[in-house]
Amino acid sequence: MSAIQEGSEPQRLGNSAEQLSHAFIVTIGATVPTGFEQTAAEEVNEKIGADVRIGKDRGRIYFEITTEDLPRVHLLKSVDNLFVVVEHYTNYEFKDTKEETLEDFQNLASKLSWKNPLEVWRLNNDVKKKRWRRKGGNVPKGKASGASGDSGKDQVEAVAKEMESLRLEPVSPADGSREPEGDTALDNEAPGGLDQDAEGREEGAADLPVKFRVTCNRAGDKHNFTSNDAARDFGGAVQDFFQWKADMTKFDIEVLLNIHDSEVVIGIALTEESLHRRNITHFGPTTLRSTLAYGMLRLCKPQVSDVIIDPMCGTGAIPLEGAMEWQQSFYLAGDNNDMAVSRTVNNIGHIHKKRQIKGSTAWGLSIDTLQWDLCRLPMRTSSADIIITDMPFGKRMGSRKKNWDLYPACLREMARVSRPGTGKAVLLTQDKKCFTKALSRMGGLWRKALTVWVNIGGLHAGVYLLKRTGAIFGETPEDVREPRGANDTAGATKEHE
Ligand SMILES: C[S@@+](CC[C@H](N)C(=O)[O-])C[C@H]1O[C@@H](n2cnc3c(N)ncnc32)[C@H](O)[C@@H]1O
Repeated sequence: MSAIQEGSEPQRLGNSAEQLSHAFIVTIGATVPTGFEQTAAEEVNEKIGADVRIGKDRGRIYFEITTEDLPRVHLLKSVDNLFVVVEHYTNYEFKDTKEETLEDFQNLASKLSWKNPLEVWRLNNDVKKKRWRRKGGNVPKGKASGASGDSGKDQVEAVAKEMESLRLEPVSPADGSREPEGDTALDNEAPGGLDQDAEGREEGAADLPVKFRVTCNRAGDKHNFTSNDAARDFGGAVQDFFQWKADMTKFDIEVLLNIHDSEVVIGIALTEESLHRRNITHFGPTTLRSTLAYGMLRLCKPQVSDVIIDPMCGTGAIPLEGAMEWQQSFYLAGDNNDMAVSRTVNNIGHIHKKRQIKGSTAWGLSIDTLQWDLCRLPMRTSSADIIITDMPFGKRMGSRKKNWDLYPACLREMARVSRPGTGKAVLLTQDKKCFTKALSRMGGLWRKALTVWVNIGGLHAGVYLLKRTGAIFGETPEDVREPRGANDTAGATKEHE
């Protein structure tokens, strides 16, 4: 089996992020919306300067950073969850029987080089604490150790103290447990920087055992074990090795065991909650992940002063992500459902409020919201640069039957407001049959430039990048259809069906 080795040997590190001058190299893994791996790779390359390897497992990317770049990794917009890689086997040789394979997993725990990844986990907690402080001191759920009435600062300090007194080193033979076997970097010393705890801690403060859990994600049909088997046996061995305490809900460390066919990646999670929830506080029935919204926006490369519309905005996930990330464009968000429009307005308001609390002097977001019917937009012909939207799939939202009227009407009206020759549309739908048929009838107005296949909650959907042809609206056979009458509501959908 071949293992991709973690960067260079670390120098000693202190316990705080301030001492990052002794940075070392680590591999970071990230989960991203499936289908948008390449887009995420471009973002990492652009913002961190790292080369990215796309995992065999769809929806995963890997890149090397020096620990100094850890704060920047948390600012990536296409990333859902982050982890530090402990070991990566590109071609793990599973044994022929379940028992032997699980025994190998048990033996693995003491053979891995945990030192650097644990130090990264520690540094990452410092990074997160700083972010919490900046955000007003909210401690993640399940982690606060102070009384419920604690101020944010007290809570952060309580967590910091708790982190510092955690016992991270493996148990030595003198502690009565078995000696780590094989080639382990942890034989004689605690993970980098963690040995300082013994001196740094207040006298009398007891060692807190680390609470941990192992999560196994497995894909592939050639395995003779289940993900539960693997998590249980590998987890048991990790517990024995470090004398950590297993806790499935209130854990300090989440060890990841990702198995995809013959690729095995062991990591430590650096995020508790997916980063995709960043902008939305008022959720709707089909709120889009901000990470996917970011990927869709990147596909159309917004330019300064572009007019960008989301004509079916729902909770506003797409225009909000755009207004936060591509601030030099102007966004219009609309929906025919009044509840959706209120949610968008509330989400925008919440971001304004958060900025005010932080004392930001930035101007408001360049975004306007209104209630409209996409099939009759109150906009001039040829006035929009980019149309980007997440269409009703016809499952939780709307119906397949209605889509046969809605989709052609959408494409026609979008073609009307788009600038001929330069206009673009990025449209997400799972109703591929209906979409493809509608598009085939609009050949004179739209040209399909790219399709990205994505997985939305288990549904196979397409993100279509369309380019507006140079044809003038009203002069092609496609747009001769009668405009819709005032009572024609085929395209309208209710939110709760
Ligand atoms: C899949 S949802 C969009 C979800 C959105 N991206 C979000 O993150 O919340 C589709 C939206 O299209 C809206 N819609 C359906 N028909 C419409 C029409 N004719 N005009 C405007 N909006 C429409 C629905 O009300 C719904 O909010």
